[in-house]
Amino acid sequence: MGFSFQTHKKCSQTQARVGVWHTPHGLVETPRFMPVGTLATVKGLTPDQLQTTGAQMILANTYHLHLQPGETLIEKAGGLHPFMGWKGPILTDSGGFQVFSLSELRQIREIGVTFRSPRDGRIIELTPERSIQIQNALGADVIMAFDECPPGQADYATVKAATERTYRWLERCINAHQRPQDQALFGIVQGGIYPELRQSAVNGLIEFDLPGYAIGGVSVGEDPALVREIVQFTAPLLPPNKPRYLMGVGTYREMAMAIASGVDLFDCVIPTRFGRHGTALIRGERKNLKNAQFKEDFTPLDPECPCYTCQTFTRAYLNHLVRSQEMLGYILLSLHNVTELVRFTQRIREAIIGDRFVEEFGHWLS
Ligand code: GUN
Ligand code: ZN
Repeated sequence: MGFSFQTHKKCSQTQARVGVWHTPHGLVETPRFMPVGTLATVKGLTPDQLQTTGAQMILANTYHLHLQPGETLIEKAGGLHPFMGWKGPILTDSGGFQVFSLSELRQIREIGVTFRSPRDGRIIELTPERSIQIQNALGADVIMAFDECPPGQADYATVKAATERTYRWLERCINAHQRPQDQALFGIVQGGIYPELRQSAVNGLIEFDLPGYAIGGVSVGEDPALVREIVQFTAPLLPPNKPRYLMGVGTYREMAMAIASGVDLFDCVIPTRFGRHGTALIRGERKNLKNAQFKEDFTPLDPECPCYTCQTFTRAYLNHLVRSQEMLGYILLSLHNVTELVRFTQRIREAIIGDRFVEEFGHWLS
């Protein structure tokens, strides 16, 4: 029971590390990509299929699940695990980020955030206490602090205020948390593009000696070239003996760079979103399966990919399914895309173990 995180191997040339993280629902071998299952489903995939991708931990969302079907129902079902039939570890995001990015008519105050439900127009208030209460009811293995994530273009004063508020909100989250023995509460580093604010955010977080730390406020509209600098600066400041999670990032280049800076966990909606739109990820590149070039291509998406899609079907068949808007096409592409991203992090893991990380993945680091 409970949580423990050990790093077993460090890269000799970068800060990359290999870890094993025990959670109440099983282990997570890091570095690792986590697929997103916003509404308690990784869209299009059954838990059995999901397991074949190599995914170990998946995400769900406080904001979406609170709106529908509501945490009370999920609690009645025994929590997210039995409700959705996923036996492995689950992480819930706190909802703050989703309110900021998705919700209209939101108001942010010290007490929390109010917004109008996109479902029925009802006014909903999400506070640090409420977010934690909902996440306690959902029952994921890892729950996230309720944070304020300002847009990437926000000026210094705005980001400073949000970062300080995130610190005050963290304290309220910790006090509200009722299940610290079986739910690990992660703090989130904000601070935007400003190293000084990132540093003070980290200083504030580590006071609380939390079971894990996330880097938030990345890829939120800032100059993409700065993502790398932020992560390279921030990740090494975090305690080395705790898991580090870079939120919302899932491109090859950014994951490889972040792993080289000592990040362990990632999530991103890209593989399932692209799958639903008929796009395959192949070795980090996007290919729209609708394209005529695949019409008579009787080869697999990626001959080296172990996923069911690649082992069974041709690009020509996938082209046909996507052109006919058959749902199987989207399912098979999602299965491949999730496998592809998880496998990228698994391959990096193996390379770090063999001390071949820079040799094999160095081209993603430049
Ligand atoms: N997902 C991606 N970025 C963020 C962030 O900054 N905060 C939260 N809570 N979730 C995120
Ligand atoms: Zn595949």
